[in-house]
Amino acid sequence: MALLIRNADIVNAGSREQADIYVESATITRIGRDLRAPPGTEIVDARGKLVFPGFVDPHVHIYLPFMATFAKDTHETASIAALVGGTTTFIEMCCPNRNDDALEGYQRWKSKADGKSACDYAFHMSVTKFGKESESQLKEIVADGTASFKIFLAYKNFFGIDDGEMFETLELAKRLGVIVTAHCENAELVARLQQKLLAEGKTGPQWHEVSRPESVEADGTGHFAAFLEITGAAGYVVHLSCEKALNAALAAKARGVKLSIESVLPHFLLDKTYAERPGVEGMKHVMSPPLRAKHNQAALWAALASGAVDTVGTDHCPFDLEQKLLGKDSFVSIPNGIPGIEERVNLMYTHGVMRGRLELDRFVDATSTRAARLFGLFPRKGAIAVGSDADIVVYDPHYRGAVSARTQHTNNDYNGFEGMELEGRPSVVTVRGKVQVRDGNFVGERGYGKFLKREATHF
Ligand code: URP
Ligand code: ZN
Ligand code: ZN
Repeated sequence: MALLIRNADIVNAGSREQADIYVESATITRIGRDLRAPPGTEIVDARGKLVFPGFVDPHVHIYLPFMATFAKDTHETASIAALVGGTTTFIEMCCPNRNDDALEGYQRWKSKADGKSACDYAFHMSVTKFGKESESQLKEIVADGTASFKIFLAYKNFFGIDDGEMFETLELAKRLGVIVTAHCENAELVARLQQKLLAEGKTGPQWHEVSRPESVEADGTGHFAAFLEITGAAGYVVHLSCEKALNAALAAKARGVKLSIESVLPHFLLDKTYAERPGVEGMKHVMSPPLRAKHNQAALWAALASGAVDTVGTDHCPFDLEQKLLGKDSFVSIPNGIPGIEERVNLMYTHGVMRGRLELDRFVDATSTRAARLFGLFPRKGAIAVGSDADIVVYDPHYRGAVSARTQHTNNDYNGFEGMELEGRPSVVTVRGKVQVRDGNFVGERGYGKFLKREATHF
């Protein structure tokens, strides 16, 4: 069915235009003033609203066996949460561990999402070991349309790879034109610090940050950058959390290393005092890299505003209270993760745009367009343009509310951002022209989302 969005105040990264948007067969086919539409066309009046391209979350975990348990969401719950919050495409980390077969893991992740996601999705393929089958398997995965890798410098003996494996992965990525995303914390330092703290009887969640201090992340970031410099591969630091790591990444960029930077929602808005709360209250706020001292937030916001930090993801990774309590006797056993797929757009709009930290078009760039560009989805995603998929967010800037676990769609029994104010939310969200959300409610079709095949673009 055709769709006409009238009176749209269209905000793309780098441009703003007042126009109508006409959609046929899932695609934007016309943008212009006073467009006419045939009888039967669905009409949405966007007067008084902002109209954004569907938002892209470049870093989520949905199916995830991790830390003796599984992340809580299904592709159905996570995609509905994403859509209610304005995210129409997510890129999930496909994370088989070192003992799994990569290809078998990739098929497993795909089968979990297939027919279940209500929004479109893609994967970053984690390389958690590099053995003799890796090259042929990874080539097959890239040929299947998954044109980005993920590596972990952290999580020794589980997801983590050593320097030799990182070198092989980056060499292959360079040859294939594939970008490599990386979790940058020095695993050896983390392991030593954890042992030391536990031996001193320091077991509560407040010690998590102490076991992974800023210098551990800065070291990991610089180490990854050195390998990129030597191999010539393109890289992307995920969930960069602090000024020290930012400086390491910017120094690498300044000397020409092909490095992009992502920071994630929790690090902009939550600081380490949240994880220092006693008991399960603190455990709710344990993730890696950890929440940091508050002064880091100003550095992240400034770098985001200037574009030095390229994207904002979530690192969505829900564990419920019972799961968090697996770590009641030792912070090293608290499942790591703070979900945010539903809150990212609204909280970044409220605390970024409305608080004067982010220009509106940079907000769109950081939360949609730049991820689409970096990961081979643009201009299909990340733009309101003729020929693009009709993923459109009609956004109500007059909405006032607050984050609450009671009303969330994410499958979890708490929300790490509980009580935070929201000044705006999506009023209508479409995926390929289909209305999936109206005013905070999912009204669409479950399982409508498609796997997005992507070409390698980093030659
Ligand atoms: O704490 C986190 N970040 N959990 C998810 C796994 C990862 O490191 O991204
Ligand atoms: Zn990570
Ligand atoms: Zn992650």
